[in-house]
This record gives sequence, C-alpha cells and structure tokens, in this order.
Amino acid sequence: MRKNIIAGNWKMNTSLSEGLSLAKGLNEALKGKTLKCDVVIGAPFTHLASIAASIDTNKIGVAAQNCANKAQGAFTGEVSAAMIASTGARYVILGHSERRQLYHETSETLKPKVRLALENGLTPIFCIGEVLSERENGMHFQVVDKQMEDLFDLSSEDFGKIVIAYEPVWAIGTGKTATAEQAQEIHAHIRRVIAHKYGPERANDCTILYGGSMNAENAKDLVAKPDVDGGLIGGASLSVEKFLPIIEAF
Ligand code: PGA
Repeated sequence: MRKNIIAGNWKMNTSLSEGLSLAKGLNEALKGKTLKCDVVIGAPFTHLASIAASIDTNKIGVAAQNCANKAQGAFTGEVSAAMIASTGARYVILGHSERRQLYHETSETLKPKVRLALENGLTPIFCIGEVLSERENGMHFQVVDKQMEDLFDLSSEDFGKIVIAYEPVWAIGTGKTATAEQAQEIHAHIRRVIAHKYGPERANDCTILYGGSMNAENAKDLVAKPDVDGGLIGGASLSVEKFLPIIEAF
C-alpha cells in the first residue's frame, strides 16, 4: 500500500538541546491527533539516539541524513547504517542534492549506501532531481531517469521498501516551488519508469515525495495531486508552527 509521508530534513541545523526541544514540541503537538500521513524528522547524527528515546517513534519516525557506503572499519568520521539503526532511527535520506553537489556523491557511492541501509532495516528516502539548466533545456525527465537507474539493481521486493523524493534543485531553499502541475507531471513520469521496470503494482505502491520550498501555503495543492504522496521539507521543518500545517495538508 502506498503511504503518505511528510518528512522533515533539518540539514546541519540545531544544537542537541534545540533539536530535542523541536522534536519534543512536535511530539506534543501531534498527541491525540489522527493523521492522514506518516511523519518523519531527519536530524543530525548526533541527535538521533536522544530524539528517538524522547518521542513516540510509532508516531514520528526518525531519519538520518546520510550513511556510510561501507559496513564498518577504518573509515574515520563515517557513520554506518548499522550505527544509525542502533539509535532507533528507521529512515535514512540518501542522495540529497547537497550531498551530490557538495560531497560528490555518485552512483558508485549511492548504490552501496542504499544496499547497506536496506540490510540494516532502514527505509531509504532516495532523492533525485534536476538543476535549473537541465530543466530549462527540457532535460529533467532524462536526469531523473538516470538517477532512478541507481535503484534498478534492487529486487522488486527491496525496491518496494524505498521512498523516492523528487526535489528539483532549483526549488531547494530558494522559495521557488515547482507548481503542483510540474510536480504531478514528473511524479507521474517517475511512476511510469518504475512500472516499466517493476510492473504497475510496485509503481502504484511506491511513495513519491516532493521537496523544494514546500510550506504551509503550497502544501495543500501539492499533496492534492494524485502522484504526490507527501513532501521532504527543509526550512519549514525547523519549527513546529511551520511544519504542523504541512502535516495537516492531507
Ligand atoms: P527546502 O529544502 O524545503 O528548504 O527547500 C528541501 C530539501 O532540501 O530537502
């Protein structure tokens, strides 16, 4: 069954105490509410265990924002998928455009990250999306097709555990959102690509999130589209006041 998900991506923001109070504040705000979507918060590594221990993780899933492309060993400074899983986190954001652009993540690094995440029971939130020049040259469909191929070594069963986040890079942190029509067009395309590879049932069950300057104002229109199953939210996930209306947009 396809799930609706609203996921926050805090990026490199909040001290431990700020992150904890944000997570607890959200936990409090959601108490007693019946939600039409799953809620996830993507926090820095340093916060994961404390957050997972202080909120209702049945109501709010905890995500890391990256994981190592190796299982364990002499990789100073890296954090493995197994370590993330041991904190109580259940998701990991992989292939975010900031990681692709600033930390040179490619198919070669991303494929083992996806595999290790799955082996450790984490749900990858796999980010794809084009930059502005690619959109302007009408290349966006080809770009996402190519990025999706990094997942196509997976068995159909494993692919069924992946969440896709379509995030046009030109819309991230810029205040420029894709229109709901633009999002629907490419989400439908992504679903067709999945159907071609894994069949219509797998495609229909796949959760495809939109990301890029999503906020309380535009969330309703976006999630109303049949192929937009929620969002990956950066800036607006950093306060309960801004994040809650997005969760309630369904
Ligand atoms: P934004 O970030 O909502 O601040 O545009 C989205 C993201 O990078 O995931």
